Amino acid sequence: METVALDDAAKQIVIIDQTKLPNERRMLRLCSLEEFYTAIYLLQVRGAPAIGVFAAFAAYLDACSVSADSFEDFFKKWSEDMDHLNSSRPTAVNLSWALSRMRKVVEDHANEPIPKILNALKDEALLIRRQDEESCRAIGENALTLLKPGYGLLTHCNASQLATSRYGTATAAMYLGHERGYDFHIYCDETRPLLQGARLTAFELAEAGLDVTLQCDNMVASLMASGKIDAALVGCDRVAANGDTANKIGTSVVATVAKHYGIPFYVCGPMSTIDTSIATGADIPIEQRDGEEVTTMWYSSRMAPSGIKVYNPAFDVTDHSLITAIITDRGIYYPPFSF
Ligand code: MRU
Repeated sequence: METVALDDAAKQIVIIDQTKLPNERRMLRLCSLEEFYTAIYLLQVRGAPAIGVFAAFAAYLDACSVSADSFEDFFKKWSEDMDHLNSSRPTAVNLSWALSRMRKVVEDHANEPIPKILNALKDEALLIRRQDEESCRAIGENALTLLKPGYGLLTHCNASQLATSRYGTATAAMYLGHERGYDFHIYCDETRPLLQGARLTAFELAEAGLDVTLQCDNMVASLMASGKIDAALVGCDRVAANGDTANKIGTSVVATVAKHYGIPFYVCGPMSTIDTSIATGADIPIEQRDGEEVTTMWYSSRMAPSGIKVYNPAFDVTDHSLITAIITDRGIYYPPFSF
């Protein structure tokens, strides 16, 4: 199943609703700008590369729906729509990166007939998806050179197939190693508050036949102290020029504990997630989400006092000094990081 598929005949994007997994496999067919915005905001589609691919398809379909009587009119209306879509989630740079690529296509075809522009947008969106799949495979091959058969591997959140077009980033080497008989023992953090590790990573890896064990986020030190973990592999939402990495909240805890126990901590991501326009992690916008995700979601009844203040950042920044290497499709980067 494709994480993000384009049904061009129906002018719809087809996704599996990731908020319903693993209990329900509910497919969504989306066609309007508000549906695209909501799908990203609610995490029905999520994970930096998958958001990028989704945004590219959304940009194409939205362009198909714009009614305009001149190129200027078309560009103005479409650009406003894209600015709105770009505001759906701030941290993963792949959203604005994909929309910039789509915008450049339109600019390169300025004043050409609209049907020609639409064709070029469709080609670019399909290229972004194909390149994402190729990148993930390359990340997996590169990561595998650092891993040995029988390794215990820890991952956080979901940087797997559901977060990309295929293979995932942090999980790409796990899948490739599994195909080659590496017999990895995978541990995945449940990833509070939205449980991407428990609901998505555990589900995907177990379905693919990998040996996977679930643990609560606060068990990471106990697990690492036990000697069962040989390396931690995580994804990324935005990497600054100095290597500081924004990823799902809790990632920097894993990195800190890994450093304490002398366990390699690897960040895996495509070059499209590296944002050299940002010098350090201090400048990465961190999404703050509704406190209900902490107090109420996933519980049969509210489990915290009504009206309690909640701190709920969706991402944290792992300092570059905690990162052993950043594994990309272009190669493996070691400190001091320079891309
Ligand atoms: O809030 P999410 O579920 O979109 O967060 C996802 C992550 O933090 C992933 O690790 C990251 O996007 C990389 S996905 C290959």
